[in-house]
Amino acid sequence: MRTIAIGLLGAGNVGGGVVRILQENRESIERRLGARVQVKRVLVRDKARGRDVNVPDDLLTTVADEVLADPDVRVVVELIGGIEPARSYVLDAIRRGKHVVTANKALLGLHGREIFGEAARCGVSVFFEASVAGGIPILRSLREGLASDEILRLQGIVNGTSNYILDAMARQGSTYDDALAAAQAAGYAEADPAADVEGIDAAQKLALLALVSFGVRVDPSAIPTEGITRIRPFEHQMAREFGWVVKSVAVARNDPDGPLLAVFPAMVPRGSLLADVHGPYNAVQVESRALGRSLYYGRGAGRMPTGAAVVSDIIEVCRGLQSFAEGRPPPQAFARVEEATPKPLDGERSENYLCVHVPNVPGVLGRVASCLGAHGVSIQRMNQDTPGENEPVDMVILTETVEEHELQAALRALDAFDDVLAPTHRLRILPPDPVD
Ligand SMILES: NC(=O)c1ccc[n+]([C@@H]2O[C@H](COP(=O)([O-])OP(=O)(O)OC[C@H]3O[C@@H](n4cnc5c(N)ncnc54)[C@H](OP(=O)(O)O)[C@@H]3O)[C@@H](O)[C@H]2O)c1
Repeated sequence: MRTIAIGLLGAGNVGGGVVRILQENRESIERRLGARVQVKRVLVRDKARGRDVNVPDDLLTTVADEVLADPDVRVVVELIGGIEPARSYVLDAIRRGKHVVTANKALLGLHGREIFGEAARCGVSVFFEASVAGGIPILRSLREGLASDEILRLQGIVNGTSNYILDAMARQGSTYDDALAAAQAAGYAEADPAADVEGIDAAQKLALLALVSFGVRVDPSAIPTEGITRIRPFEHQMAREFGWVVKSVAVARNDPDGPLLAVFPAMVPRGSLLADVHGPYNAVQVESRALGRSLYYGRGAGRMPTGAAVVSDIIEVCRGLQSFAEGRPPPQAFARVEEATPKPLDGERSENYLCVHVPNVPGVLGRVASCLGAHGVSIQRMNQDTPGENEPVDMVILTETVEEHELQAALRALDAFDDVLAPTHRLRILPPDPVD
């Protein structure tokens, strides 16, 4: 049986999972592949660090070239994370004619153009299944399972940390800070959670979903992105009263005049598929022309789920090496990828939840309603708590469907009032899932 040598860059959380899966599933992988996958070298920062997976000492190295320059190594698996030195190592591997597997959405978000360009020039592949939704084979499903179909839109929960926090707030009544601390204690959030809770990580994943779904490359930092840090127990209380759940969603639509992409927290109707995605789980709903709606659900992070996605990519590369296959879909799914700028959201229409923070004085309600009306924003319903005398009020307003540019103009005017004590908090209300 042929042996295919691979080199790992990193043996931490995910790298350790990869080593374990290659060891534990060795037989079934060999049966599927008809070849043996051998981990030839493993780059780490600190060889002496205790590891909870069995990596023979003689495989470990702190010298990148011992992996990258090894002529036997055909596949380099980058699981270091971050931008540098990951970018330099990946480019070096590609230039040496090695295929690359990575889980690094931040790297692909920032340097995808350079990396995929260099891979095309050198005739090698860069696979990245684990970079989106951890263990869910969403990129492979979009790239191969739906290769015959036209993907129209996607909507999903792709950041497990945000979902864990919002879920703990909704189901256990936690505050944002307590829920974040619980996510950190459970290993679902990093010490610096900014990329997750600010929506940056979700935007990076959305850019990769758009790449594989629509054949367009967008800069993740150009995607309108809103995090979850302003969500209070009050929003969850309102969501319960109105029959919604607060979720951080990523949406993508392939419009003729360009891709529409956005990440934002939203009120999701209870009973819809995304409302039932709990804890660190992820889900992506896809709408394609022939199949209609399909759902991809599973663990969005963690050692073994993410490791499984990485090993699937390793097997795919090895299958190519085994069969010298021509014509397999390229990792980016499209033979030609176009650069694109996400469309502005101005023309989007939505119903909205607004929470306006005002003093408890006569006439405020009328002024708020008139301001919204003057900008074409109709009120569907209002709800106001009954505070003590002289205490400010959280006035909740549900709008009728309105275009984004009208709503934004109304919010600007509203927040300029002396009466409005804090920026108005707005959440979109997603429509219920359509019934076929
Ligand atoms: N964790 C998840 O659930 C998850 C899910 C999806 C995607 N990802 C992505 O997977 C990648 C890896 O994440 P992880 O959680 O496995 O990270 P991790 O636990 O921090 O592991 C990083 C590994 O890389 C090694 N390393 C770091 N910097 C290095 C350097 N400059 N030179 C040599 N070795 C270096 C570390 O060596 P030492 O062991 O000696 O410290 C460690 O083995 C990231 O891109 C992440 O975004 C992770």
